[in-house]
Amino acid sequence: MEDQNNMERFQAKIDAGIKIEPKDWMPEKYRQTLVRQMSQHAHSEVIGMQPEGNWLTRAPSLRAKKILMAKIQDEGGHGLYLYCAAETLGVSRDKFIEWLHQGKAKYASVFNYPSPTWADMGAIGWLVDGAAIVNQVSLQRTSYGPYSRAMVKICKEESFHQRQGYEIMATLAKGTKEQKEMAQGALDRWWWPSLMMFGPHDSESANTKDSMKWGIKLETNDDLRQQFIDKTIPQIELIGLKIPDENAVLQENGSYKTSDIDWDEFWNVIKGNGPCNVQRLKHHVKAHEEGAWVREAAIAYGEKQ
Ligand code: 3HC
Repeated sequence: MEDQNNMERFQAKIDAGIKIEPKDWMPEKYRQTLVRQMSQHAHSEVIGMQPEGNWLTRAPSLRAKKILMAKIQDEGGHGLYLYCAAETLGVSRDKFIEWLHQGKAKYASVFNYPSPTWADMGAIGWLVDGAAIVNQVSLQRTSYGPYSRAMVKICKEESFHQRQGYEIMATLAKGTKEQKEMAQGALDRWWWPSLMMFGPHDSESANTKDSMKWGIKLETNDDLRQQFIDKTIPQIELIGLKIPDENAVLQENGSYKTSDIDWDEFWNVIKGNGPCNVQRLKHHVKAHEEGAWVREAAIAYGEKQ
């Protein structure tokens, strides 16, 4: 009876748009869903530093290098905000990392693809951060207070990331024939993985129904994906590149109809069989082990204060 009363009060707060805070009563499944989603989100930010880190020593100018370095550092910061926000749900940061290393926690599939050219830095900023923004603008209104507040700051920084990526692509697209081809190649490589970032079709999404009821998700995977497609195709056309989908067509309602995603590829990457899954995780484990002394020193310093 008490649980039922708590549940009714909880749902009434969600329906009234009142945020749930760490010490408030919440159903265990709500807590677990947030632990899963927020920790996966944090891992994505941190693992996402790797494909771009690959180009730091080879950026084509000092200006490009400084911008890329600042962008990658921002991503590390986003991971930290999100781990802190997720820890308010009663799970320690060490546990989150342990689950990642054991393969129990996921991270965004898109970061399991390679970045072979400088144009990939443009495509990642423009498309991957562009897709992340569409999702995260919606998550600013999510029902859990610490998650929602982390999203506000993250979104501001992501819009800078999206623009720096588009600037790289626009510059290459109006450069030499080889530079334009390089830009097109990167667009072709990152287009489909970026669309996959929004998750499976709504009909296949196991978590959407509960997450929408509890205000964790405000919009569905397919709705957000469509918003991204409709925003991005005109940007592709504006810089004179080709849409990587021959069937893409503008409908009367102003929205684009596109080919379906290769879902076998999506699930295969999630299962750990993407081109870079092994490399990404191995690198994270190595960096974590090598950073043990920094954590020990920080804890010792904190205890001394
Ligand atoms: N990559 C990896 N796993 C994915 C995925 C993707 N792109 N899309 C879905 N999945 C997984 C889900 O985690 C779920 O598995 P689980 O139940 O074992 O955890 C399964 O596929 C089914 O998907 P659902 O639609 O049921 O899952 P969700 O309701 O959680 O929706 C989501 C998926 C839309 C990705 C949602 O979790 C979400 O909005 N997460 C927060 C945003 C996020 O994580 N963004 C990462 C982007 S990276 C980033 O921001 C860095 C930037 O700087 C570029």
